[in-house]
Amino acid sequence: MIMLKVMEKRRSVREYKNKALDKKQVMDIVNSYDYNKALVEGVKFDFIYFEDGDNIYQILNGVVGYSGVLIKAPQYAVLLSDEKPGYLYNSGYVGEWISLKFAREDIGSCWIEVGDKDKEVKEILGITSKKRIIGLMALGYPKMDVRLSKIYDTIVDGHISPYEELGYPNIDTEFSKEPVSYRHSVEDIVYKNEFGNKMTFEEIEKSGYLDALYYMRLAPSWGNRQPWKFIIRKDGIILLIEKSTESESEMTAQIEAGIAMLYFKVAMHDLGLPGDWKNINGETDIDVPKNYFYGGIYSL
Ligand SMILES: Cc1cc2nc3c(=O)[nH]c(=O)nc-3n(C[C@H](O)[C@H](O)[C@H](O)COP(=O)(O)O)c2cc1C
Repeated sequence: MIMLKVMEKRRSVREYKNKALDKKQVMDIVNSYDYNKALVEGVKFDFIYFEDGDNIYQILNGVVGYSGVLIKAPQYAVLLSDEKPGYLYNSGYVGEWISLKFAREDIGSCWIEVGDKDKEVKEILGITSKKRIIGLMALGYPKMDVRLSKIYDTIVDGHISPYEELGYPNIDTEFSKEPVSYRHSVEDIVYKNEFGNKMTFEEIEKSGYLDALYYMRLAPSWGNRQPWKFIIRKDGIILLIEKSTESESEMTAQIEAGIAMLYFKVAMHDLGLPGDWKNINGETDIDVPKNYFYGGIYSL
């Protein structure tokens, strides 16, 4: 299956079958990544797999996940990285690459926020690595094929739910039959030459980026906040990311930038359009609004 189709079908899985994954299959997928071709060169990334999901749930629920609420899964993985420049972008990129490959094999996954609990989680799990924990990944076979939880997807509406007291400020217990959670339209996330300069659908289509942006929007993000904006210029397309808000960890936005870069690049390449991300987290000549940061430019 081409990756575009995988991007379309992937969703964060929060309900799993009570059936164990095949460890060899999981590790073969993880090890099939060419780490020399990561987004940022020379940054080591690690994936530690835990088969005893019940135990992990017992000891980490209350510590990690939105408001400390961990999703129950039959397996988990801990994602770690060297703390070198660009490591959060790189971790989002590599972690999501693995998640897409899992989705291709019908293995469900969900990113779990760890934030500043790195030391605490290492201590609980007995991890001695010097690398930084980027996040957890819940793993297993999805319980439902199309039933999609709308949990957390109401943040965009500013919807407050009665489940707030339980630590789920944005929970919505209804389930949607739609294949993916709510997404902004392409017209909402793309500008021409400068921030705020909207483009019509026809203009975006003419630019050649329409299809890639359509698929890119399907990327996962913290609380489904979809922090990405793109600026189309003659020299390429620039990614801006909205900074993390108080409720998220500061790390989140850079992880999301890496995820966005992966989705965009995979979509472009699948559509037969070459190019790569350059100048990641570098300097830019465009005016970046205060609540955004520059991620990089995608060009030939
Ligand atoms: C960096 C990051 C952290 C996330 N943390 C959590 C989490 O702690 N708990 C959770 O249930 N979902 C978490 N998610 C999943 C998002 O809620 C999900 O991607 C978003 O709601 C969009 O839904 P979708 O992935 O099904 O398209 C996280 C996603 C990202 C990218």
